[in-house]
Amino acid sequence: MHSTTLLSPQPPTAATAPPVGVAVLGCGYWGPNLVRNFFDTPGCRMLAICDQSEARRQAMQARHPSVRAVADFGDVLRDASIDAVAIATPVQTHAPLAKRALLAGKHVLVEKPLTTSVEDAEELVELAQRQRRVLMVDHTFVYTGAVRRMKDLIDTGEIGELYYYDSVRVNLGLVQHDVNVVWDLAAHDLAIMDYLLPVRPTQVSAIGVTHLPGGMADVAYLTLRFEGDLIAHFHVNWLSPVKVRQVLVGGDRRMILYDDLEPTEKVKVYDRGVRWNGHADDARREALVAYRLGDMHAPMLDQTEALRTECGHFIESIRGGGTPVTDGQAGLRTVRILAAAERSLQKGGAMERLDG
Ligand SMILES: NC(=O)c1ccc[n+]([C@@H]2O[C@H](COP(=O)([O-])OP(=O)(O)OC[C@H]3O[C@@H](n4cnc5c(N)ncnc54)[C@H](O)[C@@H]3O)[C@@H](O)[C@H]2O)c1
Repeated sequence: MHSTTLLSPQPPTAATAPPVGVAVLGCGYWGPNLVRNFFDTPGCRMLAICDQSEARRQAMQARHPSVRAVADFGDVLRDASIDAVAIATPVQTHAPLAKRALLAGKHVLVEKPLTTSVEDAEELVELAQRQRRVLMVDHTFVYTGAVRRMKDLIDTGEIGELYYYDSVRVNLGLVQHDVNVVWDLAAHDLAIMDYLLPVRPTQVSAIGVTHLPGGMADVAYLTLRFEGDLIAHFHVNWLSPVKVRQVLVGGDRRMILYDDLEPTEKVKVYDRGVRWNGHADDARREALVAYRLGDMHAPMLDQTEALRTECGHFIESIRGGGTPVTDGQAGLRTVRILAAAERSLQKGGAMERLDG
């Protein structure tokens, strides 16, 4: 089961613990967002950035003159004033870099997806436990007001018994060179689903195709099965002319539409549904289906930037000794589904069991 509150209170030591020295590794597209948010996070000192590219290091130093910029990750690992590192490098590099950081005694925040294999993710989870260090994954959307509100709606029973989870994440680019569209985009949606649903999927099937040179699937459809009748579907696409970011969660009491592109009313709760008043073999089926067409409401949402909440949660977990909501186990669960989806993709959509 998930914890129901996102940011559970940390032990009182968090208030008195010394500030956490932080370094961000990889300052390409995403890393600078982490740097900016760690600068704004109480209880933390944003000390260093590390990037192989001189241009990236110079750009970061121009923006944040107080920050130390280094090319060699070893310099970060040897620096005793740095307690934690955030890793925002290409996906294939996450596992070896996170392993080095944990072995050097640093707390680690890793970008999504945690790793590219189940074995690597398991190794990181075990290593973090052995080293008694926080291992957290940047499942950014879990820290949005919208997704947290949806979790409340599901946990309090307002949606009722869950029927389906239907997700669309399509846009033009950013085409990645080291992972396909499933590992890049579906990683977000599987992480959101992992946080929201009180049950875990048992099987996954994935179909995808490659249109661009490089052999990476750029359009894909994933179907997940659960015990019972709950079903989930994910549509991801790098070649869509328009950007769509929508999730539908249907239950027997209410239905949620989450549209991440809506400026304010991102979550809409519909009091709509279908009730079957007869038996399956009843000849007068039509007359016995009752449609409920009630009101829609859009709840107020916390507008805090997700990464700001997330960076604060990482620092509090370190200072207070708590377990982050998106800990290594959450990262591992997502990687398990992604790896099984990859196997299914290779077999043209065969159903793959999700063990563990
Ligand atoms: N959470 C989100 O919403 C989100 C959004 C975009 C990207 N990401 C993730 O962030 C990560 C980075 O993606 P990106 O789009 O910023 O990539 P990018 O290619 O733009 O940047 C990666 C940076 O890492 C540097 N780098 C690579 N290997 C290094 C090493 N060993 N030591 C030091 N620097 C190194 C590169 O020079 C580059 O500047 C990926 O894991 C991606 O999945 C997450």
